[in-house]
Amino acid sequence: MNNKEFESTHFFQTYKRLPVEIARGDGCYLVTKDGRRILDFFAGLAVNVLGYGDRDVLRAIIHQTKNYLHLSNFYIQDAQIELARVLLENSGYDRVFFSNSGTEAIEGAVKLVRRWGKTRRKQTIVSLQKAFHGRTMGSLSLMDRKKYRDGFEPFLPDVRQVPLNDTAALKNNVDEHTAGFFFEPVQGESGVSPVTAEYIDQLLELKKRFGFLIVADEIQTGIGRTGTFLACEQFSIKPDITIVAKPLGGGLPVGAILAVDELNDVLPTGTHGTTFGGNPVACAAGRVVVTKVSDDVFLKNVREKAGRLHDQLIELQNQYPSVIKEIRGMGLMIGIELYVPAAPFLDKFLEKDILVNITDETVLRLLPPLVIGEREIKRFVEVFGEILEIIYP
Ligand SMILES: Cc1ncc(COP(=O)(O)O)c(C=O)c1O
Repeated sequence: MNNKEFESTHFFQTYKRLPVEIARGDGCYLVTKDGRRILDFFAGLAVNVLGYGDRDVLRAIIHQTKNYLHLSNFYIQDAQIELARVLLENSGYDRVFFSNSGTEAIEGAVKLVRRWGKTRRKQTIVSLQKAFHGRTMGSLSLMDRKKYRDGFEPFLPDVRQVPLNDTAALKNNVDEHTAGFFFEPVQGESGVSPVTAEYIDQLLELKKRFGFLIVADEIQTGIGRTGTFLACEQFSIKPDITIVAKPLGGGLPVGAILAVDELNDVLPTGTHGTTFGGNPVACAAGRVVVTKVSDDVFLKNVREKAGRLHDQLIELQNQYPSVIKEIRGMGLMIGIELYVPAAPFLDKFLEKDILVNITDETVLRLLPPLVIGEREIKRFVEVFGEILEIIYP
């Protein structure tokens, strides 16, 4: 049996796999087993912000593996401390809890919000329609989309969803019983939809009135993706809790709950924990990622590249107004909404050795490594133009 046959025979068929087999990564490119070099505008679903093979990440990993791969959270560990230092310094938070993944960090935040609310008679959690927070039961409870939830009921009680950027609905759904509000600064899985500044202002006003916790899920937007270290820096908000994961470990699994100091007492000894969370090898890689990405010059460069890519996409939209409906997003998290299904575009891009992603049927989602070069951006735009010309001459 070849790999494809073995996978379809023996794996749960939960994933729609891409029709390429990858031998290795090289910078912003994937090299297939049959020798193709594919320009990666997907970055392992927003994980590989430094591309493939960053020497400093690899060096940090090798160094840590020589000391130990795992100790357990019974020990204070240098690698966790070093990652925490740079992460807290660059995010402005005081407290951290390391998890293994994004969804686990969300679970931890749900527990934190519930336990904080318990002593205050606040139990309801409000989240956004079309949100994506992960695949575990707590995360699914925050979400409303059938495609993720169907058949997995019952979910956590006292959770309700409101439409994104609808200030009236928000007003109608938060009150003195609200314990927490969860949101993504840019909803990634449901078509790359950013929250508006007005919505955030309204949220802050309601928080002032009712006193609930705000939790930002920056698992996809965080750590440089939007051109600032955290996306929320571009709004007038510092949430009580921010969740980061995806790129945090440079490709190794680690997530983090970042919180303000006032929440420290909510989770005393023994109330939350994990065997593998904050794995030292992942944390060693993470320190390099956070140090590199938080650099002002690096982030300025991300913003400039994103601006140029955005401008060139707008030019294509002007040429094909009946095909491209909208270009949106923040930084190098870009959604190209089409009037037509996006799947044929993904196939055509792949034929031309470029990997893009599709979300919400009609949206091409671009999540290139943050180290993407001008040459690669130029190539992407040229190929997109060629594909539009072929499909819509
Ligand atoms: C915004 C957001 N939240 C949560 C998650 C879940 O993270 P993980 O897959 O690491 O559990 C994802 C993953 O795609 C995400 O994009």
